[in-house]
Amino acid sequence: MTPVLLIGNGAREHAIAEAVMRSGRAPRLYAFMKTNNPGIASLSTEARIGRYDDLRAIVAFAKERKIAVAVIGPEDPLGHGVVDALAEAGIPAVGPTRALARLETSKSFTRNLLEKYRIPGNPRFRNFTSPAGIPEFIAGLTGVVLKPDGLTGGKGVLVQGDHFQTPAEALAHCAEILRDHPGVTVEEKLEGEEFSLQCLCDGRTVVATPPVQDHKRRYADDRGPNTGGMGSYSCADHLLPFLAAADVAEGLEITRRVAEAIRRETGVPYRGVMYGGFMVTAAGVKLIEYNARFGDPEAMNILPLLKTDFIDLCRAIIDGRLESLAVEFERKATVCKYCVPTGYGLPSEHSDAAGGPSRIEVGDMRGARLYYSSIDQRTDGLYMTSSRAVGVVGIADALAEAERVAEAAVTAIRGPVDHRRDIGTEPLIRKRIEHMQQLRKKPIPSGG
Ligand SMILES: Nc1ncnc2c1ncn2[C@@H]1O[C@H](COP(=O)(O)OP(=O)(O)O)[C@@H](O)[C@H]1O
Ligand SMILES: [Mg+2]
Repeated sequence: MTPVLLIGNGAREHAIAEAVMRSGRAPRLYAFMKTNNPGIASLSTEARIGRYDDLRAIVAFAKERKIAVAVIGPEDPLGHGVVDALAEAGIPAVGPTRALARLETSKSFTRNLLEKYRIPGNPRFRNFTSPAGIPEFIAGLTGVVLKPDGLTGGKGVLVQGDHFQTPAEALAHCAEILRDHPGVTVEEKLEGEEFSLQCLCDGRTVVATPPVQDHKRRYADDRGPNTGGMGSYSCADHLLPFLAAADVAEGLEITRRVAEAIRRETGVPYRGVMYGGFMVTAAGVKLIEYNARFGDPEAMNILPLLKTDFIDLCRAIIDGRLESLAVEFERKATVCKYCVPTGYGLPSEHSDAAGGPSRIEVGDMRGARLYYSSIDQRTDGLYMTSSRAVGVVGIADALAEAERVAEAAVTAIRGPVDHRRDIGTEPLIRKRIEHMQQLRKKPIPSGG
């Protein structure tokens, strides 16, 4: 019997829970969640509700249940040092220690690491702890992106052209960021197509999972505000329509070198997920950021395709034996679409959460996978909060079929809900391909 602790309460963790329960190692799932996820709870032997900064409660639960492996879903507990606390109690975890989680929690740490170890992929950047020197640096860039240091829940980064227009506005934003954060990273705005390369690392060996493209914008055609992610897709050939095998190899090579650099820098092996957010540009593959965990939605694209036993995989990561494990994924296309409350992504005063939680009815999923996110199960049914409610995933030999399966399932969910119809469809994919063709025709900007 293998008692597994899973920390987290979203659709990503529901997909992890499913992968754990598919294991042939007699899994027993113990979930520690901020709020009750009925999907995870239904797969668990026991679900406990608590706060992710309550390390004492998490460790006590793990000890009580004699946990063999802990899997950390979201970034918050990693940032609070849950892996360090579990290690002190002798419980191994898939996830980096607090110092190593800086790969995600501190954008300046990661940019500096790449620079120090001469790893390619950085845009032009500089870290600032005061406004001094920012105007001069910005003057030398054609477009800028401002990144606060520290976790911001995906809502802290400001991009010129999207969130502000002029250099003067950029300076005002920097001053504001520096009031609430220890630093700000100012970097060159890159142009290209983004992809997520979720890699597994045992400290030495880095293994890539199939690349995925996420859709952050709230509305079709990439309009509206940024969100936690409205959906994502992956392809049967384990590439993306605008991405060549060499581009994926470049992202993997950057990640391998970062894994080695972080071990040298800290003396500690990184054991967990290194999710590289990359952008393929006319000048090659660039690093946008690292996350220290699976993506949400991207975990829902790759975990259902995993052929390798998930508990074996966790053990290999913990014991530093990834090199000798064959990590395999089915050659299928996937499309994930998030069902969200209609008010999701709007400023809270316009969101319908103001009127109290709304009930939804999940219809016939017709072959799609369903993962609960912010869903409350009451005696009279399922209720949404103001966040993403349910992720559905279509899996098929071809992308178009996977899209049809996901679309049919998400439209079967009844209530005051919305989703992005265009994710995984041919017109949007064609737009991505054409975007890259356009960029590759333009002269490559210097210094990038
Ligand atoms: N240097 C950059 N050039 C262009 N766009 C960027 C750059 N850095 C970030 N972005 C955009 O901003 C988004 C959020 O930035 P990211 O670094 O991923 O932070 P987070 O996910 O923590 O909000 C990215 O997905 C990308 O669309
Ligand atoms: Mg990001």
